[in-house]
Amino acid sequence: MAKRRLGILISGRGSNMASLVEASRAADCPYEVVLVASDKPAAAGLGWAAEQGIATFAQSPKGMPKAEYEAAIDAALRDAGVEAIALAGYMRLLSDDFVARWRGRIVNIHPSLLPKYKGLDTHARALAAGDATAGCSVHIVTEELDGGALLGQAQVPVLPGDTADSLAARVLEQEHRLYPQTVAAWLRGAETAAHSS
Ligand code: GAR
Repeated sequence: MAKRRLGILISGRGSNMASLVEASRAADCPYEVVLVASDKPAAAGLGWAAEQGIATFAQSPKGMPKAEYEAAIDAALRDAGVEAIALAGYMRLLSDDFVARWRGRIVNIHPSLLPKYKGLDTHARALAAGDATAGCSVHIVTEELDGGALLGQAQVPVLPGDTADSLAARVLEQEHRLYPQTVAAWLRGAETAAHSS
């Protein structure tokens, strides 16, 4: 079966993007990463992706209407034949128009146990609330911030003495396991649905 063509959007380090790329090398992985795109031309993850021989695209939104910026990203994804998009530390809100154009074909990883702690500073908020567990979630992207259907979650304990950084590091390890596994299951499911309809 042909591999699904995955595009990844990042804004920074790109460690989740790297975990998706590494998992894609397995023969039975249902996707290949055909483009890594970023709103930050200096994003560290872009350099790593290029070293792996993956096509990259960078477009800063600075000084440009949002619609124009997103049209450039959209064109790059379509030129690369992207079929599904994974957000991996992409820190910019996608417009309703962009989400509608890719409806049901964008997933995101978020560093909390959704529906808790949508938005930013998730680990500090989990610590401030005195939560005993924290974690990460993979969900379908809709117009509602961090609000689409959940595809998978992983939990970690909050330990005595944790700081936002130590908790983030523990959660990130789980993100690297959860994201490739969930994206693979999601795309296998989409393939099965397409063949049975
Ligand atoms: C990850 O922890 C990801 O869950 C989070 O940013 C980090 C990116 O790290 N994403 C969000 O907060 C999205 N709202 P990475 O660049 O090393 O993958």
